[in-house]
Amino acid sequence: MAAMIVVFGSVNVDLVCKVAAIAKPGETVLAPGYQQLSGGKGANQAVAAARAGGRVRFVGAVGRDAFGDGEAGTLEREGIDVSALARLDEPTGCAFISVASDGENAITVASGANRAVSAGQLAGTWDAGSTVLVLQMELPFDETVAAAREGRGAGAHVLLNLAPVPQGVDAGRLKDLLRSTDLLIVNEHELDEAATILGLQPGEPEETARAVADATELSVLATLGGAGALLVSREGEATRFQAPRIEPVDTTGAGDTLCGVLATGLEAGLAMPEAIRRAVAAASLACLSFGARSAMPSARRIDQFLAEAR
Ligand code: RIB
Ligand code: NA
Repeated sequence: MAAMIVVFGSVNVDLVCKVAAIAKPGETVLAPGYQQLSGGKGANQAVAAARAGGRVRFVGAVGRDAFGDGEAGTLEREGIDVSALARLDEPTGCAFISVASDGENAITVASGANRAVSAGQLAGTWDAGSTVLVLQMELPFDETVAAAREGRGAGAHVLLNLAPVPQGVDAGRLKDLLRSTDLLIVNEHELDEAATILGLQPGEPEETARAVADATELSVLATLGGAGALLVSREGEATRFQAPRIEPVDTTGAGDTLCGVLATGLEAGLAMPEAIRRAVAAASLACLSFGARSAMPSARRIDQFLAEAR
């Protein structure tokens, strides 16, 4: 069997408003309207991986509702194996998103069916020769820990995108999850939060990433928005990856694109630095249009963009 990427993660419908500026607590802002788009960090990562040329199985859940029909169909049309996508008597996850004119966003997720996903749904997955398991933090924490252990046990390379950072999880439980992880992927905000949970003092990204890598014995990939990404190996060696210069329209889904495209690169046997370089370029491209998935690139588009950037 050919190698396969398994994404164990969330599916949401995104209800997105364009606003001049994101509402502060207690404030009301008006938007001209809203759009219904496909989202969920897990499903977005699966789509990014598939568009970049990966063979992907998505494991998660939607409701038995119209949103669920729509999202299941969308994943299938991307060529993703949805045989382990459960249909549950819970509403399909829904994310309420504001996107400001500078491309920044704020997101509230109503988890619904994502809260009922179980690691048991991974049964049978590993016989298909899976090499990369991709995890995020929009499913129940303990199920994600169980999935990481299973993946590790099956010999898969486990990528953990600690997004969003789980609330109320202490150092011991976080370390439990990290023990079965190969690469931790965080943005600057998540990096600081993870460091704090681990009892470390957040500072400059490189210093913080090094402290986290040291405390967890993991490689840490910190995404820095327009400034690209920073990899700190378990041994404390730091490598910077520049992001190609772009004018972002909507950064929603950029991190998901990076994770998915990285998974595809690793599955294809690329060395880590080359896989990250492609993933950073893809994440920049993903910011060029509205919505999490609308601008997620194909492998060809990534090649073209990298060639132009040289
Ligand atoms: O990372 C972006 C995603 O986060 C959105 O698609 C939304 O559904 C939330 O899960
Ligand atoms: Na986008």
